Amino acid sequence: MDQQQINTKANELLSKMTLPEKVAQIMQLSYAHMSDEDKCMWIKRGIGSALHIMGSDAQRFQDMTLETNHKIPLIYGIDCVRGHALNPKATIFPCGLGMATSFNPEMVEKACEIAAREVTEDALHMVFSPVLCLGRDTRWGRVDETFGEDPYLSGELAAAMVRGYQGDGEMRKDDGVIACPKHYLAHGESIGGRDSYDVSITKRKVLETFAPPYKKVIDAGCKSIMTAYHTLDGLPCTANKWLLRDLLRDEMGFEGFVITDWDNTGRLMWQQFFSPDMRHAAKAAIIAGNDMIMSTPSFYEAAISMVESGDLDESFVNEAVLRVLKVKLEMGLFGERRSGFHNITKSIMACEEHLRLNSDFTNQTVVMLENKNNTLPLPRDIKKIAVVGPNAHNIPSQYGDWTFYTHPLPDFTKTPESVSISIWDGIRELAERLGAEAVLSEWDGPVSVYRRGDAVNPLDVQSIHRATDNTDVNHCFNDEPDYEKMLKNCKGADVVIAVIGDDPTFNGEERDRANLDLPYAQQKMLEMLKEAGYKLVIVGVTGKPLTIKWAKENADAMLWTFCPGMYGGSAVAGVLSGDINPSARLPISFPQHVGQVPVYYNQLPGWHGEKYIDLPKEPLYTFGYGLSYSKFELSNLTLPGRVSADSKKDIMVNVDVTNISNIDGTSVLQLYVRDVVSSLSTPVKQFKDFKRVPLKAGETKTVNLKLPMNELAIVNHDLQRVIEKGAFVIYVGDGVYLEKEFIVV
Ligand code: BGC
Repeated sequence: MDQQQINTKANELLSKMTLPEKVAQIMQLSYAHMSDEDKCMWIKRGIGSALHIMGSDAQRFQDMTLETNHKIPLIYGIDCVRGHALNPKATIFPCGLGMATSFNPEMVEKACEIAAREVTEDALHMVFSPVLCLGRDTRWGRVDETFGEDPYLSGELAAAMVRGYQGDGEMRKDDGVIACPKHYLAHGESIGGRDSYDVSITKRKVLETFAPPYKKVIDAGCKSIMTAYHTLDGLPCTANKWLLRDLLRDEMGFEGFVITDWDNTGRLMWQQFFSPDMRHAAKAAIIAGNDMIMSTPSFYEAAISMVESGDLDESFVNEAVLRVLKVKLEMGLFGERRSGFHNITKSIMACEEHLRLNSDFTNQTVVMLENKNNTLPLPRDIKKIAVVGPNAHNIPSQYGDWTFYTHPLPDFTKTPESVSISIWDGIRELAERLGAEAVLSEWDGPVSVYRRGDAVNPLDVQSIHRATDNTDVNHCFNDEPDYEKMLKNCKGADVVIAVIGDDPTFNGEERDRANLDLPYAQQKMLEMLKEAGYKLVIVGVTGKPLTIKWAKENADAMLWTFCPGMYGGSAVAGVLSGDINPSARLPISFPQHVGQVPVYYNQLPGWHGEKYIDLPKEPLYTFGYGLSYSKFELSNLTLPGRVSADSKKDIMVNVDVTNISNIDGTSVLQLYVRDVVSSLSTPVKQFKDFKRVPLKAGETKTVNLKLPMNELAIVNHDLQRVIEKGAFVIYVGDGVYLEKEFIVV
């Protein structure tokens, strides 16, 4: 069908629908939280979409739509932020933050193509991904879902995700799925790192920092966008017409449908006290520009009654219905794809090809933070490796949030039904290859500080809060691990690998932290190992940066992974052995202390004194940082000395990069820019392009980077995007940077 036919068909359907059918069509309800009887009732009413249901179950209800008046198929949505991870049979990739460490949009795109194929096999059509929130306040619970702190990197990776899910340009016929970038907009920015709370940023900040990544996913053709829970300058995003219509549609050109987040419409009433009742909330959500209402069943009666009483113009409902119907038609849901599940002849879920790509991808996501005195790679003649710590053999921690362990309902008794290589599994296999002894000292203390049913540990401030209120985790621990047993197991080891971190109870919605320190029991473990004189290699498995100053200072080497998924163990072991030369970089800065947060790199200059009186300004590790076994050197940075502000061409930047070591490796070249003087204070530097550059030992390559002219623009005080003439500085490098000035005339 071409666009003309789609429009005609959508309008034809609309003209035949009753008001209740139209209202039902723009609703999405959770089928994980409903009786079968209710599900059938909603199908009869003509519900347009459901979430959190899959496979034959989903298909059963889809088939029932053929019995309804207009036979309009359902859109099924699923949370798929790191592969189809709510299905234990599927390919589970690193979390968003983990994927971002690769600085590799091509891999991200391929991963999402795989995710699209796998959700399609489960009869689903829409993925609530990518996550475009910026992880700038690392106390926030959902940092693991983000691509880190930088708007440019987030936009590039998110656009790659959209292409992967939907297709590049046209929606892929057989297995393209609707991408749903979220949470529109600036969701990670609430004060205090508190989830879904008050975001007090100006319109200028919205336009300058938070809207540009959305522009990229819109340009990539995303078919839907999800609004956010929070209030923006006091106004709930759900009811913000400027955000959902003026900026999103008129300025950025979005043409798909807008979906609310979970019961956002109800929250206008019961949480944000913006609406006195559901009728008011229903109207506010619709006129602001939401086209599909997620998980607010009472929207149905409220919206119908508002239209019937003349308080809401039916044209608002019609407009939303049309947008939803058009996407259904574009996807071919009325045709072949309706019987998606029945069409499956051979399962591709976690098939060899998908697993291979995941393994290759995960290999690019282990960040080497420290390597003192070339501790790594481990010597080939090593005799004994001891592995300790809570995340050494802990698949839930490795998988993190938004997997079958945590959603739609938490269930830590479930098990992966495909490959899952724990860090210990990877190291054990490596030791076998090296002919070394490997010992796992099983952790019998808390991963997080939380202990179900236990009294709180007075030495551990985090447990005071957590021990009382969470009962959804299977970990049940003693107060402290048996340190003596651990030390006994380590006896005679040439190296002790301590796998530390957090677990799914410490990441996710409503899981903000006020303290980013390692839990007490883990810190004590590290200090005991150090005191015992072991060569100490620390491996972090977390959903976010922690404050690990002691670890930085005392580890002989340190690797970090953000919830790396199925292949975390083989990727870490590969880096430990040197079979993999680490090529990941940090997409997010690590603070030295929680009191420094936020420590994102692209801050404004001008802080009196430039430090706290009791803490420095600098983060522990900054955005873009990461070590390699190779050494790289840069030379010959060239770019035009003058460019015209009216030029439409990208500024081409060339640099020679040489691998001066005798080990093949990959440099991640980064380009930053600084606007020297402008009508507003601008960040000390801003990330604007990047390239992974594989180099053989001794090899030199000339690398072309590009800086699109519009990336030089600022949003001025009159809210206009303008390029101001004058000097700019470009920095290019990977840890060490060359710089050069150019003038915009
Ligand atoms: C989250 C969304 C998610 C939705 C559906 C909400 O609570 O904020 O990110 O897509 O639930 O599960």
